[in-house]
Amino acid sequence: MSIASASEPHTGKSRYHEVYERAQRDPAGFWAEAAADIDWYEPATKVFDPAMGVYGRWFVGAVCNTCFNAVDRQVARGRGAQSAIIYDSPVTGAKRAISYAELLAEVGALAAILRDFGVRKGDRVILYMPMVPEAVIAMLACARIGAIHSVVFGGFAANELATRIDDAKPKVIMSASCGVEPGRVVSYKPLLDQAIERATAKPDACLILQRPQAGTDLVAGRDHDWSSLRNAAVSAGKTADCVPVSALDPLYILYTSGTTADPKGIVRDNGGHMVALKWSMQNLYGVNPGEVWWSASDVGWVVGHSYIVYAPLLHGCTSILYEGKPVGTPDAGAFWRVIAEHGAVALFTAPTAFRAIKKEDPQARHLARYDLAKFRALFLAGERADPDTVKWAEDSLKVPVIDHWWQTETGWAIAGNPLGLGQLPVKRGSPTVAMPGYDVRVVDEACREMAPNQMGSIVVRLPLPPACLPTLWQHDERMRESYLTGFPGYYKTADAGFKDEDGYLYIMGRTDDIINVAGHRLSTGGMEEVLASHPDVAECAVIGVKDELKGETPCGFIVLKAGVNRPPAEIEQEVVALVRQKIGPVAAFRLAITVARLPKTRSGKILRGTMKKIADSEPWTMPATIDDPAILEEIGGALRGRRVPT
Ligand code: COA
Ligand code: AMP
Repeated sequence: MSIASASEPHTGKSRYHEVYERAQRDPAGFWAEAAADIDWYEPATKVFDPAMGVYGRWFVGAVCNTCFNAVDRQVARGRGAQSAIIYDSPVTGAKRAISYAELLAEVGALAAILRDFGVRKGDRVILYMPMVPEAVIAMLACARIGAIHSVVFGGFAANELATRIDDAKPKVIMSASCGVEPGRVVSYKPLLDQAIERATAKPDACLILQRPQAGTDLVAGRDHDWSSLRNAAVSAGKTADCVPVSALDPLYILYTSGTTADPKGIVRDNGGHMVALKWSMQNLYGVNPGEVWWSASDVGWVVGHSYIVYAPLLHGCTSILYEGKPVGTPDAGAFWRVIAEHGAVALFTAPTAFRAIKKEDPQARHLARYDLAKFRALFLAGERADPDTVKWAEDSLKVPVIDHWWQTETGWAIAGNPLGLGQLPVKRGSPTVAMPGYDVRVVDEACREMAPNQMGSIVVRLPLPPACLPTLWQHDERMRESYLTGFPGYYKTADAGFKDEDGYLYIMGRTDDIINVAGHRLSTGGMEEVLASHPDVAECAVIGVKDELKGETPCGFIVLKAGVNRPPAEIEQEVVALVRQKIGPVAAFRLAITVARLPKTRSGKILRGTMKKIADSEPWTMPATIDDPAILEEIGGALRGRRVPT
């Protein structure tokens, strides 16, 4: 049995340490072995070339196609009749299973349509889509013809979409008439129209999926009805073959929050991505081909890219696409219903989803209504899994509950507990240990390693393993500045934490101004730019305040310009509305507080860290460099009685 790719039953001693050591000793050999699980038109001439790209490139010289491996190859190997996707949408009442053979036909037809619009290898296509099967089909259709997709989460506003359009310069945009949130239909088309109007880069065409919940008008000459084109292509028997691409070519760009309002275009390549994701399904998640897998995320996030779409299909699993929430669609038993009904063996979601279920059904009474016999494990990521939630999930579900840590940048787990290699003991509050290929260190500012249990910055020794970002879209320099120059020779994760004496990692928070709201990554810097744009605001600061359900929620402090004599409450409401309008509802920005002044150091730096401690009722010390200590008392006073509305 090969060390790199096979898994043994989850009993006995874990093979983790042996496998991790092997990957450290001989990375090229390890990943070359894992690459044998992928079909290549041409194998790599060099498994890793340190001289290429920003910090080296994986699978140089290899030629491949991700869609071929995810779809065609599964059909060729006898999975044609197996469900590839199970779409389950409690918000619309729809349910639909799509077999691998059907998926191949749909993807082939859509790829042909894109080709007819002139989309070629290397062209970008933006997807602004709700959680419907067409979103997955569109991603795969792009991959099929070598086009680079960029999915924009539906909860983002027109402005955010416009920024991404200008950076990616898509030839085509694919969208839908609406998204469906519990109790509310979100019209996408007005947002899309505004975004295109604002953007400098204009797409040649838009494909619009008309949903029955709300239709939309089409702009003549630009918009096309997705279903009509699809029906015509299917009737005419149109399809497009897989286009061979370099393993180094981008498969997608996914924008994620940076420290400014300018999102970072994380690039994912084709070759390394397939290799690492396929490896992870068996060895980290312990899932076998043919089994039903569920990642309750959204295709707009990296978890959706990797574990709703690519990894499960590359592995020949059935992937559940869920358009609903953990609670309220219709109740806190929704997750158990989906697991039981479709026979899922594992679920991957964010801890916030479990906090929502626990809050509504603390005794987990809904569980009694469902048969979860096939269910083997729960995986949590996206934010810190707090020990209470982990324990509640363990006690309720009686299966391993595995926290694992990763980032949009890495595309798969940096640290986890590899069930496929044999589970390691769980320490609640820790996402366990580094995955093969990641040499994770905890260091001080001078990049000296910290002693066990000492907090520091978490960095990863270069090179990063396959699937991690090779660069930022057309911004090698920003890639270097953001991630590689702070700690030479290492990738800066911008997370802080510690390692215990057993090498278990504890990820405690960010070192930059990114906050994590309900598992969604947001930039407080971006929100500050919006607040500052209000004509009555002189200066502002946004911090993430501890929240029982969402982990953190944003809280904005505003100082009004001299001479403004409108009621502060009115301005507070306006800035709340402005963030929703400019960034989107996903920012969950609901609390703005007017203060007379902001606490600063003598050099003028706003003391956001101390403000956060005060808001979280944590112990804090007066910073030695503070300009005027009285201001912190004022902040405490302003916060009193102002809770974040959830
Ligand atoms: N399109 C449009 N609007 C969206 C949206 C989408 N795809 N997704 C969320 N929103 C809106 C919500 O409707 C809500 O709007 P509101 O302010 O009018 O109520 C707002 O954005 C905030 O959404 P969210 O933070 O998700 O809060 P919620 O109250 O709707 O739900 C949870 C709370 C915990 C149930 C939900 O956040 C959840 O399931 N989180 C899991 C997170 C996750 O999957 N993360 C991915 C990484 S694994
Ligand atoms: P995203 O890029 O949206 O996946 O967010 C990545 C960030 O979320 C990380 O840098 C962490 O700050 C946080 N995060 C993700 N998973 C975990 C985890 N398991 N434990 C603690 N923090 C996490």
